[in-house]
Amino acid sequence: MVAKEEEFTGNLKQQLVKLFDASLKLTVPDEPSVKPLVVVGKFEDYQCNNAMGLWSKVKGKGTQFTRPLAVAEALVTNLPTCDMVESCSVAQPGYVNVSIENMLINGIETWAPTLSVKRAVVDFSSPNIAKKMHVGHLRSTIIGDTIARMLEYSNVEVLRRNHVGDWGTQFGMLIENLFEKFPDSNSAMETAIEDIQSLYKPSKTKFDADLDFKRKAQQAVVRLQGGDPVYHKTWQKLCEISRADYAEIYQRLRVELEEKGESFYKPYIANMIEELNSKGLVEESDGARVMFIKDFKNPCMLVKSDGGFTYDTTDLAALWYRLNEEKAEWIIYVTDAGQQEHFDRFFKAARQVGWLPDNDETYPRVSHVKFGVVKGEDGKRFRNRDREIVPLADLLDEAKTRSKAALIERAKEKEWTPEELDQTAEAIGYGAVKYADLMNNISTDYKFSYDKMLNEKGNTAVYLLYAHARICSIIKKSGKDIDELKKTGKLALDHANERALGLHLLQFAETVEEACTKLLPHILCEYLYDLSEHYTKFYSNCQVNGSAEETSRLLLCEATAIVMRKCFHLLGITPVYMI
Ligand code: ARG
Repeated sequence: MVAKEEEFTGNLKQQLVKLFDASLKLTVPDEPSVKPLVVVGKFEDYQCNNAMGLWSKVKGKGTQFTRPLAVAEALVTNLPTCDMVESCSVAQPGYVNVSIENMLINGIETWAPTLSVKRAVVDFSSPNIAKKMHVGHLRSTIIGDTIARMLEYSNVEVLRRNHVGDWGTQFGMLIENLFEKFPDSNSAMETAIEDIQSLYKPSKTKFDADLDFKRKAQQAVVRLQGGDPVYHKTWQKLCEISRADYAEIYQRLRVELEEKGESFYKPYIANMIEELNSKGLVEESDGARVMFIKDFKNPCMLVKSDGGFTYDTTDLAALWYRLNEEKAEWIIYVTDAGQQEHFDRFFKAARQVGWLPDNDETYPRVSHVKFGVVKGEDGKRFRNRDREIVPLADLLDEAKTRSKAALIERAKEKEWTPEELDQTAEAIGYGAVKYADLMNNISTDYKFSYDKMLNEKGNTAVYLLYAHARICSIIKKSGKDIDELKKTGKLALDHANERALGLHLLQFAETVEEACTKLLPHILCEYLYDLSEHYTKFYSNCQVNGSAEETSRLLLCEATAIVMRKCFHLLGITPVYMI
């Protein structure tokens, strides 16, 4: 190999493609259009297959090569050196096989894929103030967080946006109802607001039943949106209380988000409408101002006849802001599939204005990640026994309580400190909820079942967390200093099960890249589950501790544990080390 260190970024396959690209340029300088053909080979190594094709191109043209194998040999000679590639060999008629063992020891932390976007917005969670945050918002929170984590890992700067519904029509009825109930006591009203969850229902009932109240509530929205200070103050108080509730959930789930709610985009609305207007896109319809969209029956509602703004207006203003002020190249919205029409229409509107290219895969780009509904074990929408929406806090409590009970059943409270028990129960309980959600293809509905998600067997977080803890305990039991082994030891993949595991490990970054570009977290879950299956096969057929291959196999265990932890990290799951 030529002695030249290249700088390598990108996933393993990309890296090998780059290496072979460099080698091809040296080997056949007269064939600049030849692209490297790097594939997973028969013997479960990586393989470069260019030599055969090249041979048919160059033979008889006065080439220095005498046969395809000679081309392959030249490709190896001209391959830049790289820490991760152990060695290369050639095989008849002209394959180049790349040994990957070193990559497992040295490359693992630096495999991250590099995507072609620099900055993305992930708009997720986004509950509505004063309404309950329900399992749909939980799905959005979990899926959005994972997408953000995968993009971050792929070197994309992610603006994690909580687009809370803090500006909608619900405020008119909430505030108007409060004003009627507490006409002259501010402090009594503030106390009532503290109990925000019980405000919505009676206000809504009144709104639906009482026409006069309905009219007043609609006027209240317009006043609020117009900046009336009395309405504004009450609105602020409502938002504050809800915000504190959300913060608790995010903290429990360890999800980071920055709130830029609907109201944030208010200052950008006037200019946005003006731009649409100047392009001749705004029309009057029954006193409202709307934008008609090709192929859609309903137009985008920009200003209602009473002067109020809508969900459409805010989303258009927010998109303008994200593209022009935040300079995001990819804007990803995570909501339930019920909102598909809204997003399709408003994306089309943005193309019609010329903010987005016509081709929806060209950047700047928008994507709607639409997920299915969460169902209870009865197959109906997930509700509690009283047919009420299950508050998220209760749901997380229940998962934790159940996983703690399972640990106590296994007598763990005798072995562990109360903190250890509590932390493990939490990691398993919350991890189970997240994994059960993420493992499904996003668009399918899924059944929420504590029994299933907390099962130690099968494709669950519990099973995977234990698999990881077991690997860590094998390494610990060996009594070897693993960091020392990494410096001095060698990793060989001789046994078929070792090779299969090693190769699967090396496909990690490619998998993240696929999950990220397709916006499908279940691809990563499938990878993780397969990884533990490969590991189980390896462990049942290859003795680790006390064997002649101990060092090599411990290194393979360590590589597996590291990749598992990376997966957990991307899925927002806290690993456990004790079983
Ligand atoms: N608040 C909305 C809901 O609960 C979700 C908002 C999604 N984001 C957006 N930019 N429209 O349904």
